[in-house]
Amino acid sequence: MIMTKRYSLLSSLILAYTIVCAQYNTMPIPDTLSGTNFNLTIQDTFKQILRTGNQTITGGINANFWGPTVFVNKGDTIHMNVRNRLNDSTTLHWHGMHLPAVMDGGPHQVIPPGTLWQPYWKVTNNAGTYWFHPHLHEMTEEQITKGIGGLLIVRDDVEQALPLPRTYGIDDIPLILTDRSFTGTDFKVAPYGDSMLTNGTLRAQYSIPAQVVRFRLLNAAIERSYNLGFSDSRTFYVIASDGGLLSAPVPLTRYLLHAGERIEILVNCTGQSGTNVNLKAYNSTLSQQTPGGDVFPNGPFANALARIDFNILHLNIGAQVSNAIVAIPTALTTVNTIPSANANITRYLTISDTAVAGIPGATFVLNHRFFNMNFNDYSVPLNNTEIWQITNSGNFGHPFHIHDVEFNILSVGGAAPTAAQAGWKDVVYIPSQSTVKFIAVFDDYADATHPFMYHCHISLHEDEGMMGQFLVTNNLSGIKENTQKVTPFIVYPNPSRDELFIQLKDAETEVYYVTISNINGKAVMMLPQPDLRRGIDISSLSAGIYFLNLMDRATKSITTQKFIKQ
Ligand code: C2O
Ligand code: CU
Ligand code: CU
Repeated sequence: MIMTKRYSLLSSLILAYTIVCAQYNTMPIPDTLSGTNFNLTIQDTFKQILRTGNQTITGGINANFWGPTVFVNKGDTIHMNVRNRLNDSTTLHWHGMHLPAVMDGGPHQVIPPGTLWQPYWKVTNNAGTYWFHPHLHEMTEEQITKGIGGLLIVRDDVEQALPLPRTYGIDDIPLILTDRSFTGTDFKVAPYGDSMLTNGTLRAQYSIPAQVVRFRLLNAAIERSYNLGFSDSRTFYVIASDGGLLSAPVPLTRYLLHAGERIEILVNCTGQSGTNVNLKAYNSTLSQQTPGGDVFPNGPFANALARIDFNILHLNIGAQVSNAIVAIPTALTTVNTIPSANANITRYLTISDTAVAGIPGATFVLNHRFFNMNFNDYSVPLNNTEIWQITNSGNFGHPFHIHDVEFNILSVGGAAPTAAQAGWKDVVYIPSQSTVKFIAVFDDYADATHPFMYHCHISLHEDEGMMGQFLVTNNLSGIKENTQKVTPFIVYPNPSRDELFIQLKDAETEVYYVTISNINGKAVMMLPQPDLRRGIDISSLSAGIYFLNLMDRATKSITTQKFIKQ
């Protein structure tokens, strides 16, 4: 009898404990990939996101929501094997990376279903937290809503030498912030969600050790900004912005993170084992002009999280682990910001509210025109140092993002950037009725054909056309005329089983793009500027007849050779 009683007491204690914990779901940490060669398969999939009912239709990269965290080293040349296994076309953009436009994965680099796209580049970015996501024009919101994306973490010697937490998932924790609404058990494609999703998990919790913990926060939401803070209002230290380390940790109790932005923070939990704290979004303080502060009683923008405070992550602080970092460093790195006197030009951009016939309510435009894939708004001479001045005359704020470069903010509404924003950035929030200036150097990569994008990082606005594009051009190289010259080359061995090589017959030819198409003319592999010293790995193709189409850089003429895959 006594045994039974004890047993039932124990089991009711376990039950009570389970009920308390059941409020929370333990958050997963994305898997990691490292090295210089990465296989990323974008796929339609399912995930159990709601506690009961059907799985949610999701998208992921090698996973059933989101994708792996890709670790790369500054200085390495990395090769990406991006396979599109969706039923739709997509693109994959390396947000924040400095790389050739043709590798960038913007709306021009469409990957058809079933096709393998193989961009590669030398990593020159500083250590920091970057990311990748689809960028197919007018489909970005939908494909990001599915959950397609991933973090790209750059390591370098400067960061490596600092006493910072960097044990992934233990004291260095990626937090991918977004929110979703549901129709039944499926995601609704909507600007705002009713529920917070942290690393793809509702009501997320995680255990951290009682020491200094680093969080890498990405705002991956469609529209919402998160006013980050802890439930006990503890101080946290911002150590990095979009493009890497700040000069010194910046102590704060709140940080407003907008769509597309990243920060890395340190939180000192030394001596707090056995306690808990919540990371929250203090969005009740946001204005009607801020994404997430706009309250609508109904319609497509109405949502349960509008202008309220809500939980992002419940943190259980446990025992310290060995080799713990227990102090916040006092200094980080030297940020060599670009002197404004170096600027060759100031470009003036505008953001304004607009009305579109047939679309209810206002939408937003850059420079008074909607995005046009065939129109280049700017031509930036290679190596130019430029100030971009963006004036938002509208009634809503927008996170402005530019590809190719990391920039320094010069001013926001006339004031110098805050300390946490004084480093390298690739997204800057342009408040309503305000002007922001930043400065950037457009070096290394010129391309007379492929543009880079700039846009609002609210994917709804981007899809609606709040985007523009620019070429970086190298006038010194001149433009060769299109002489319709043929580009003779051979492919060998032919037939081939695993590898195919290209031998050019004309020293003038520069390979700009190679596509391999099957007998039906469908592209199966896309190889921007392939390195001809490396063979083309065709081992994944099924046996049959294929065509290799080679585009010459100067003339853009395409010539084709047939080959047989054994
Ligand atoms: Cu993260 Cu052009 O976008
Ligand atoms: Cu980007
Ligand atoms: Cu916008």
